[in-house]
Amino acid sequence: MTEPAKDIYDPEFVADLFDRCSSSYRSWSAVSSFGFVAIWRHQCVARLPRRAGPHPVVVDLMAGTGEVWPYVLRRIPEVATITALDISHRMHLEAVERLHRSYSDKITHIEANALQSDLPANHADLLVSTFGLKTFNTDQQSELARQIARILKPGGSFSLIEASDPKGWMLRPFYRFYLDRMLPLIERYFLRGANDFSMIGAYTQNFGDCTYFADALRANGLSVEMKKHFFGCATSVAGTKPKHHT
Ligand SMILES: C[S@@+](CC[C@H](N)C(=O)[O-])C[C@H]1O[C@@H](n2cnc3c(N)ncnc32)[C@H](O)[C@@H]1O
Repeated sequence: MTEPAKDIYDPEFVADLFDRCSSSYRSWSAVSSFGFVAIWRHQCVARLPRRAGPHPVVVDLMAGTGEVWPYVLRRIPEVATITALDISHRMHLEAVERLHRSYSDKITHIEANALQSDLPANHADLLVSTFGLKTFNTDQQSELARQIARILKPGGSFSLIEASDPKGWMLRPFYRFYLDRMLPLIERYFLRGANDFSMIGAYTQNFGDCTYFADALRANGLSVEMKKHFFGCATSVAGTKPKHHT
């Protein structure tokens, strides 16, 4: 009997996937992207305003192992707290156990689905998210945009970035060959048969870029600017919730 096809956008499926990836996520993402993830995290945080009140409250959605926090704290040292929300238990554990002891007092961990979180409304001065969009389909992106508009304080700012499919780029065939063919082989060889990180190819291709998400944010009354990074291999959206948001 053949097994029913898995829904790769089912939050439970995604949580299990990242639970399995958690221990090697950090090194694998850095190496497999040739260091680009670090540049893109930096560029994403650079789209947040340097001044966002005396002690800004930051929310990091799909926070994973907290790779973006050093960039946030370097740009805005007066940050009061970072609320790190992620659905994967093991990604939180990795973050707590290994990585961020020196400023762990600033971090609040919430294990929850970003689409159904009970983060308070009008709570965040700043909202950031790096590489957490691709595992959402378009309906889920619409819901996420609604949540972001709800969580941000009026006047608050956001910046999110995601790996994207650089349609129209001359070297796209090589990029796709690398994502779709080489990475699965490398993963199979080095991670002994696992095929988890290789899912990124399918997610990225389905995601396309941040265009749909930018429109969903606009539909929720946020002002949004979209940007391409390295010929569209990543795209980001940044903007604000107007002071008189209804
Ligand atoms: C590719 S990792 C990115 C982690 C981190 N932000 C970074 O820059 O490395 C994506 C993260 O999104 C989380 N995630 C996926 N779907 C989620 C959801 N519905 N709610 C909360 N977190 C989710 C995963 O568990 C995973 O840790």
